[in-house]
Amino acid sequence: MSERVEVTLSINGRDYPLRLEPRRTLLDAIRDECGLTGTHMGCEHGVCGACTVLLDGQPIRACLMFAVQAEGAAIRTIEGLAAGDALNPVQRAFIAHHGVQCGFCTPGFLMLATGVLARDPDISDDELREVLSSNLCRCTGYQNIVTAVRAALAELRGGAA
Ligand code: FES
Ligand code: FES
Repeated sequence: MSERVEVTLSINGRDYPLRLEPRRTLLDAIRDECGLTGTHMGCEHGVCGACTVLLDGQPIRACLMFAVQAEGAAIRTIEGLAAGDALNPVQRAFIAHHGVQCGFCTPGFLMLATGVLARDPDISDDELREVLSSNLCRCTGYQNIVTAVRAALAELRGGAA
């Protein structure tokens, strides 16, 4: 086992002081060291998007980054999306438009969509579909996910869903 290093991760506004091996991924640290298991582990090599979290507002794949590289950044996970009992617009839209079946992919899609809509509220429909195609869902056929994210985008823009 290699030597452990000290690193403090800031996740959902809370600091997590950790001692871990430098080879540990951010995904491992979030799940195993911080106990935030809402971020899911799928392929572990950057393909499925189940591990998507926000790093300084940008959606990233936590399995492709070492935890030590995330020190100093504001990390947001699925546990940090709702404000108490108040779900965020993307969460509400996934419920309203049946964007969830087994739910394995759902945290990744919610973080991806939340990050992209915050960064680019003027995103075109084609671009939105292109962005969402980066994450894999084996259940829904994608249509309800796309519909849900469009509805959240319409709400963000102040229009009808
Ligand atoms: S677990 Fe990270 S992309 Fe699949
Ligand atoms: S809802 Fe099952 S993988 Fe997407």
